[in-house]
Amino acid sequence: MIRPPTACVYGAPPPELADWPADAVQVSPLAPGSASLEDVAPDSLDAVVMAAPPGTIERRYALALGLRALKPGGILTAMAPKDKGGARLGKELAGFSCPVEEASRRHQRICVCRKSEGVSGLEAAIDAGAPRSLPALGLWTQPGVFSWDRIDPGTAVLLSALPPLAGRGADLGCGVGVLALEVLTSPAVTGLDLVDLDGRAVRAASRNVQDPRARLHWADARTSPDLEGLDFVVCNPPFHDGGAEDRALGQAFVRRARALLKTGGVLWMVANRHLPYEAVLEESFARVTRRAEAGGFKVYEARR
Ligand SMILES: C[S@@+](CC[C@H](N)C(=O)[O-])C[C@H]1O[C@@H](n2cnc3c(N)ncnc32)[C@H](O)[C@@H]1O
Repeated sequence: MIRPPTACVYGAPPPELADWPADAVQVSPLAPGSASLEDVAPDSLDAVVMAAPPGTIERRYALALGLRALKPGGILTAMAPKDKGGARLGKELAGFSCPVEEASRRHQRICVCRKSEGVSGLEAAIDAGAPRSLPALGLWTQPGVFSWDRIDPGTAVLLSALPPLAGRGADLGCGVGVLALEVLTSPAVTGLDLVDLDGRAVRAASRNVQDPRARLHWADARTSPDLEGLDFVVCNPPFHDGGAEDRALGQAFVRRARALLKTGGVLWMVANRHLPYEAVLEESFARVTRRAEAGGFKVYEARR
């Protein structure tokens, strides 16, 4: 008989700052394949340990889901760096009418909170952070996903430069599917694999991109899915990992795009002007052309 979990862990809290049972179930949307806190039965867990996410709405949503999942008396341990939401964590938890003990260690604010019988405000925080259709965008989206309530300016520059594409391709770091929707307006496109690390983005993209040529993957695009011989890749690569700027992440996307493309295949990519991608593009591709530059962004066409 499979026993239901008694504890969940959200993300990767520093292990020296909290304990969680070895069989705790991972529930972060940034851990491909993990379970989802939304689906955990209310009042079922003894413990939730959370690396609280940085955005205010997404953090209150995750905290509220964590508290909802706990049995009365169950313990939520939540932590975040002081400058990434940690400073507000105690107040946010107290706002759910639960007693909180707060400590600071290693630049993290750590809050331990026991779910009280009088817990309140959970449904409002869950509603505020839930997936929704934004009429202004005409898209499904959710607080916490990249540029969740507007078209990213870099994406807009890439959209303005992108020609109609043909054949089979991939959108690496697809977000909610803005680039994919444009790519699929070309009838010559025969297939498109959309890949993102953020399960919330992939769920939104699966509602936005209802095209039989599209396949969605909740995965780390640096290693998966297993594709080859593509005609094109489109990409607005991530340059943050866990909140810190990480140029290596974008550079890994460039190398991965090369590996997925057939000889003669093309990468269309946008990057912030200050990010150093020219060297990795030149070393990975036979021909690199700057196709657009606007608003602090550069668009490259790189042919393998
Ligand atoms: C700059 S955003 C672009 C999103 C979307 N293509 C757009 O233009 O609006 C980069 C995306 O990459 C995703 N991402 C970050 N690291 C990733 C990884 N290792 N594998 C796949 N996707 C990743 C982020 O979740 C984010 O949605």
